Amino acid sequence: MSDPSSNRQAATLFPDTPEIEERIHGLHDLIAGRTILITGAAGFVGRYLIDALVRTNAALNEPARLVAYDNMITAGKAGAAVADLPGIEFVNADVTQPIAWDGPLDVVIHAAGIASPQHYRAHPLATLDSAIRGSRRMLELAGEHGARLAFFSSSEIYGDPDPAHVPTRETYRGNVACLGPRACYDESKRVGETLCYIFHHTHGVHTNIIRPFNVYGPGMQEADYRVLPNFASRAKAGRPVSIYGGGIHTRTYCYVSDAIVGFLLVALKGVAGEPYNIGNPTPEVSTLELRERCERALGRPLPYELVAYPDSYPADEPTRRCPDIGKAREQLGYEPVVSFDDGLRRFFTWTEAHYAGES
Ligand SMILES: NC(=O)c1ccc[n+]([C@@H]2O[C@H](COP(=O)([O-])OP(=O)(O)OC[C@H]3O[C@@H](n4cnc5c(N)ncnc54)[C@H](O)[C@@H]3O)[C@@H](O)[C@H]2O)c1
Repeated sequence: MSDPSSNRQAATLFPDTPEIEERIHGLHDLIAGRTILITGAAGFVGRYLIDALVRTNAALNEPARLVAYDNMITAGKAGAAVADLPGIEFVNADVTQPIAWDGPLDVVIHAAGIASPQHYRAHPLATLDSAIRGSRRMLELAGEHGARLAFFSSSEIYGDPDPAHVPTRETYRGNVACLGPRACYDESKRVGETLCYIFHHTHGVHTNIIRPFNVYGPGMQEADYRVLPNFASRAKAGRPVSIYGGGIHTRTYCYVSDAIVGFLLVALKGVAGEPYNIGNPTPEVSTLELRERCERALGRPLPYELVAYPDSYPADEPTRRCPDIGKAREQLGYEPVVSFDDGLRRFFTWTEAHYAGES
C-alpha cells in the first residue's frame, strides 16, 4: 500500500516519467506487493515502462517485485543500461526458450519483439519466434501462476487498411499479406493474438492485447531505423533527411508518455480477453508534412531528399495508419494529452542532447 506522507522519489531515466504516474488513477494500489514480469525490457517501450514502475515503487511501503527479461537482440548500448537500474531483477533471457520461474507471478507485460522494419527484415525468423513461440511460453507461464498477461501486438496487424476503415477500430479484420517481407512481423503478431484468444477462452487466462500505433519520444535508440530517430540523427549531423517512396504515406504518432499511460491501463485494468488500440488519432500526417513539423520543432532548416526505398527496408508500406481509440477511452479512460508539436519539441530536445549524429 502507498504511504501518502512519503516524499520518496526515484531518479528517472526519462524526462516524462513523473507525469505518467500522476495520470493513472490508483496505480499505487494496482502494483503494490505484486510481481510483474516485463519482457523486451531493454527496448524503447520496456525501459520506459520499467522507469515508470521503478519510480512508482519508490513511494510504496510494499513495492512490486519487478523482473525484466531481454535477450538484447536489438537492444543496443542504451538498452544494456536497464540491467543496472536499482529496484529491478534483470535477466538476459530469450522468451522463446524454457523459463524457470521462482515464486508467485501476477502480471506479465510481454513487450519482447523485433519492432523496427530494418531489424525484422534482417531477422525474420527471430521476429516470428518472439511473437509466436515467445508468446506461447509467456501465456503458459501466466496460466501456471494465475497471472494476467498483456501482449504487445501492433497496429501492423491491420495491414494496409481499406480507407473505409480509417480511423481503424479493433473490429477491423485487416488487409494483410502472408507472403512478403512484412509478413514475418504482421502475421506473427496476428498469431500471437490468436494465442491470447485461445489461452483466454480455453485456459481461462486473463489476456489483453495492445495494438500500439507509432510511438515516439526520448529513449529511442539513434540506430533504431524508425522515421523519427532517422530524422533526429540526420538533424544532429546537419545532413538532409531521406524520405522514401515520395513521402505520401500517412501516419499518426503517439508521444511516449501518452502511450505508456495507455499501455499500463491495458496491462493493469484491461477487460479480460479484449484488444485495445493505443495511439493518438490526430493529426494524421504524410512523411513530407512530418518533416515540416520537425523543422518547426527544431527551429532550424531540415533539408530533405526524396529517395527510393533502400533494399534493407521491407516493401509494401501501408498507405495509411490511424487509430480509433474509442474503446480504450470508454473502458479505461485513456486520453492522449501531448500535442504533436509539443511532443516533437520534447523529442528533439532530448535527441539533440543524446544523439551523436551518426546514423
Ligand atoms: N514502438 C512502437 O511504435 C510499436 C508499435 C507497434 C508495436 N510495438 C510492439 O511493442 C513492443 C515494444 O516495442 P519497442 O518499440 O520497445 O521495440 P524495441 O525493438 O525497442 O524493443 C524490443 C525488445 O525486445 C527484445 N527482444 C526481441 N526478441 C526477444 C526474445 N526472443 N527474447 C527476449 N527479448 C527479445 C529486443 O532485444 C528489444 O530490446 C514490441 O513487441 C513491438 O513489436 C511497438
